[in-house]
Amino acid sequence: MLRPGAWDNELIWGRPFSICHADAETLTIFYQVVGRGTRKMADLKPGDSVVTWGPLGNGFSLGQGAALMLAGGVGLAPFIGASLAHAHPERLRLVFGHRLDLGNYPWDMLPPAMSAENHHEEKPGDLDAFLARLEQLIREHADQGPVLACGPTPFLRAVQRMALDCGAQAQLSLENRMACGVGACLGCVSEDPDGNRIQICTRGPVFPATDITL
Ligand SMILES: Cc1cc2nc3c(=O)[nH]c(=O)nc-3n(C[C@H](O)[C@H](O)[C@H](O)COP(=O)(O)OP(=O)(O)OC[C@H]3O[C@@H](n4cnc5c(N)ncnc54)[C@H](O)[C@@H]3O)c2cc1C
Ligand code: FES
Repeated sequence: MLRPGAWDNELIWGRPFSICHADAETLTIFYQVVGRGTRKMADLKPGDSVVTWGPLGNGFSLGQGAALMLAGGVGLAPFIGASLAHAHPERLRLVFGHRLDLGNYPWDMLPPAMSAENHHEEKPGDLDAFLARLEQLIREHADQGPVLACGPTPFLRAVQRMALDCGAQAQLSLENRMACGVGACLGCVSEDPDGNRIQICTRGPVFPATDITL
């Protein structure tokens, strides 16, 4: 969770972001300007203070074997650090769907050894082609290792349906809106398939595709 000091009382709550990359000295996040908070973040200058709390919640369960990573838009962010930390990036395959030009995304940070393909949605039909490619790869990969997905809810819903259809072990990282990030405000709740309410910030944000209703 991030909250720049300059927000004062104008924006009370922090905003949640994936850890794109972290080492002993630097925390890298990658974000898109969508509203008041991110617009103000874009005005930050070197030396400005930002309050951070985290890391919070869980992450993908990846291991060191093969994995199929599926990213939509800013959902690319957590896969950067995960693939850089992987001992065998050549076992990883990333498929990335995006609407802005590729230069807007931290594509160059991915380890060169991993297999990565991007799909730019520019014209009618591109989205259908992307979804067809996802379905093909999820089926091919179903018995080889986990399928990991991060992106907007409609994208996650499509991946969930495809994974459940072919029995792939999929993990979905949800982007619900959050306020406290620590289980206190109930601002982030979704339901499991039995109708139980789940706080995404403390129980997630990553869930097996079988355990969450989108
Ligand atoms: C676990 C997690 C990880 C995230 N990682 C990233 C990341 O790495 N990079 C990144 O750019 N964003 C990420 N997000 C989304 C990010 O938190 C929101 O974009 C941000 O909070 C918006 O703040 P704002 O003040 O600019 O927008 P607001 O002024 O709060 O809202 C502006 C508009 O954006 C919509 N909106 C706000 N949050 C979301 C959301 N989560 N999903 C869909 N629509 C939303 C609102 O409905 C409204 O229409 C993540 C969210 C979660 C929960
Ligand atoms: S964000 Fe407050 S309970 Fe989840």
